[in-house]
Amino acid sequence: MYVAIPKELNSLEPRVAATPGSVKQIIKSGLNVYVESGAGLKSFISDDAYKSSGATIIKSSKELLSNADITLKVLPPSNEEIDLLKEKSVFVSLCQTTRELETVRNLTKKKISAFSMHLIPRTTLAQKMDALSSQANIAGYKAVLIAASRLGVYMPLLMTAAGTIRPSKVLILGAGVAGLQAIATAKRLGAQVEAFDVRPVVKEQVESLGAKFIEVESESDDGVGEGGYAKETSEDYKKKQQELIHEHISKSDAVITTALIPGRPAPILIPTTMVESMKPGSVIMDLAAENGGNCELTQKDKVVNHNQIIIDGTSNLPGTMPVHASELYSKNVAAFLTYMVKDGQLNLDLEDEIISGALYSHNSEITHLPTKESLDKEK
Ligand code: NAI
Repeated sequence: MYVAIPKELNSLEPRVAATPGSVKQIIKSGLNVYVESGAGLKSFISDDAYKSSGATIIKSSKELLSNADITLKVLPPSNEEIDLLKEKSVFVSLCQTTRELETVRNLTKKKISAFSMHLIPRTTLAQKMDALSSQANIAGYKAVLIAASRLGVYMPLLMTAAGTIRPSKVLILGAGVAGLQAIATAKRLGAQVEAFDVRPVVKEQVESLGAKFIEVESESDDGVGEGGYAKETSEDYKKKQQELIHEHISKSDAVITTALIPGRPAPILIPTTMVESMKPGSVIMDLAAENGGNCELTQKDKVVNHNQIIIDGTSNLPGTMPVHASELYSKNVAAFLTYMVKDGQLNLDLEDEIISGALYSHNSEITHLPTKESLDKEK
């Protein structure tokens, strides 16, 4: 079986879907790996390093894609890439399938069996394939470092001969994988950290990292939805949450927002009026920028200066650390791929929870219900 690793076409995407380490793992499972020349360069991996791990280097992307039985990528395929793919071949990448509808439609027309790493179930068995977590961890860590470097103040408490410097206050909105890593990183830098989440279950995790958990007291339900993910909250909850965030944000030096609701636009937690109540020189890192942002003023992939408050909407924070982002993503992808291989052959067991969970298009059919519903709505 021919496994292809193409170069990412998007200039803002330095990650690559395989490293020499993951190539070895894939070859060990009985498959052959072909890498487009230069695919790893932005993650500092040379063609020679891939060759040493047993891969074959291919110069032309056309040759690579048109021969591939399985293609592994970071980003979803472009229409040109889909044109080159073989009918009924397998395609694996990150893909927000309820939003990338044209891509889904084109893959389906070509009868591609398409898998999204976004859709891998968050189960214990699938933990090593959990690319959302491996990449969110990097985003949470890097967001704090960028915020710290943008601030005009120290993060830690300092006692100097010239006087005492108070520690920075960092507020984290959304304490999932990215938020928890942001808390840990800000604590390591010595900041005073507060965190808020709609899921009360994270309180213990937040506190165990040494941060203060901010709680909304509401008669109505909290924000816990299906599968332990967040869901849309009631109006009463939203109002109380806004008041609480307002109170804390005006005292914060840096805010890291990571709040997401699966299949929905990111909730707006920081309206413009709230930004205007912040101190000049404060920084907001909006990790939800890709999904519309948690701050009303966020612009995807732009850094906005609003009344001397910086709102950073960089969407691909994992891409700012391409070496580890590629290493971890490629391990996730290789774990998923080798899970589907038996005796050197692909075994697409559609009864399997992980395989069917991640599959969104197969044999000309959309197999992921929310994606199908999004496509139907478009008609
Ligand atoms: P996510 O990226 O979907 O959302 C980030 C955070 O934002 C979540 O903690 C969510 O509760 C919070 N949020 C949503 N709306 C909010 C609002 N209005 N205000 C404040 N916060 C809000 O979450 P992530 O990091 O992908 O984790 C989602 C779930 O998956 C969690 O329950 C997590 O524990 C679980 N998980 C399970 C794993 C496993 O068992 N293998 C691995 C990783 C995560």
